[in-house]
Amino acid sequence: VPGKPAMGSSGTPILIDWQAGTLAGNAVEQSSKTLGELPGLFRDESARQRLDPETLVYRVQLWQPVHAGTEGGLFWGTTIVEPGKVGAEYFMTHGHFHHIRNRGEYYATVQGEGALILMPEGGQARQEIMSLGTLHYIPGNTAHRVANTGKTQLVFLASWPSDAGYDYDLIRHSGFGASLIEVNGKPVLVPNP
Ligand SMILES: [Fe+2]
Repeated sequence: VPGKPAMGSSGTPILIDWQAGTLAGNAVEQSSKTLGELPGLFRDESARQRLDPETLVYRVQLWQPVHAGTEGGLFWGTTIVEPGKVGAEYFMTHGHFHHIRNRGEYYATVQGEGALILMPEGGQARQEIMSLGTLHYIPGNTAHRVANTGKTQLVFLASWPSDAGYDYDLIRHSGFGASLIEVNGKPVLVPNP
């Protein structure tokens, strides 16, 4: 639109729909993960292979107003996790430590029901229940992932330092130490073998 700056370009805002959680603006980046793109993530790998690999597990909208790696900047994201299970394990995000380990993060739930699974480095995994309005502080040195334990989409907002980065490898190699499984209709965090 002539005369109207692109939303989200330097020094201009983007738009957020606070009920849906979704972001709009030229600067918003999008990515998604399907079951086929998450091999080895769920404890029952053969159950994953029996499901349609095109099944959407989650998608992310991301606003990076500064370049990744910039010290002192902040990023913003919206993640939408679909309802579903692989075997008895709920659909979830991959999860990560931050590359700069001591960087923290906020998550805030705007739709659905779920669990934030936290694993401090060298410690025990635990969960915080997510529902409309819950605001979660993720300390540094703590891996984090989100599982959708409900029957509708789980949507949460996030903000984190632009130099935090991601370290997926430790999760990929040693997992989270525990999996969120449905037992008698309820989410239970069970240790991995
Ligand atoms: Fe993070």
